[in-house]
Amino acid sequence: MSASLLRLRADDPVEALTEALARDGALIVEGLLGPEPLARFEADLAPALAAASPERDYLNPAVEWFMGKRTRTLTGIAAKSPTFASDILCHPTLLAVCDAILGPSCARYQLNVAQVLDRGPGAEDQMLHRDELVWIHMPRPHPELQVASVIALVDFTADNGATRVVPGSHRWPLERQPEAADVVAAEMPAGSAVVYVGSTLHGGGANTTQDTWRRGMHLSYVLGWLRTEENHYLETPPDVARALPRQAQELLGYAVHDAVADAGGYLGAVDLRDPVELLADGSLG
Ligand SMILES: [Fe+2]
Repeated sequence: MSASLLRLRADDPVEALTEALARDGALIVEGLLGPEPLARFEADLAPALAAASPERDYLNPAVEWFMGKRTRTLTGIAAKSPTFASDILCHPTLLAVCDAILGPSCARYQLNVAQVLDRGPGAEDQMLHRDELVWIHMPRPHPELQVASVIALVDFTADNGATRVVPGSHRWPLERQPEAADVVAAEMPAGSAVVYVGSTLHGGGANTTQDTWRRGMHLSYVLGWLRTEENHYLETPPDVARALPRQAQELLGYAVHDAVADAGGYLGAVDLRDPVELLADGSLG
């Protein structure tokens, strides 16, 4: 029997979502973004997307190979889109899942990466991978480090490169290779998301269409005491972050990770104070 992904709704009880994530390592959450915020997000991104090209510089050839040809990528989304901060980064469903999965292992979690990935015709299958291996030095086993997602900004189909996922692979030894029947294409309408944990194998699919760009947003959250993949302080500097909702500032890493109540210490202070408070009183940036 071929593998499959459970489909739930964004307003289903969070326990049902987290149960599926714990059991399968991934699920499809339908109706995460309605047509109105989707259209607003699209409008926010339009200028940057128009200026983006698959021909761009990456930090090294490995990253270039990993991202693949025929892909337009936007990063630093919090600084490009007010809709991102208000409707996506702080989405109650995503944060409720993070509360349940990441909450027990940190004083607060934070945004890890937010990238719009616009995969054009001719884009090839991306290597199946585990997002959490960016923290390769973390001994295994370990608690869940990361809650990740790909939000469909257009309808995702197997032909246009829907994210491919291997349900159950979050429990596999690293060396186990998936068979073709283990891999599911996360086909879903725009506004839905495939949500997965950092240990679940997945990758972008090949876009075999002639003229359809598969636009999605990779959005992930990580324990607040790990270094993030994107450097949000530089991509969304204080003079930009100041205008964002406080919860967005906190998720971008402007809040200290304060584990003093757990007999630990704190991380991320500025002049021995909480930068999110310094943003609020105007003394930062
Ligand atoms: Fe990934």
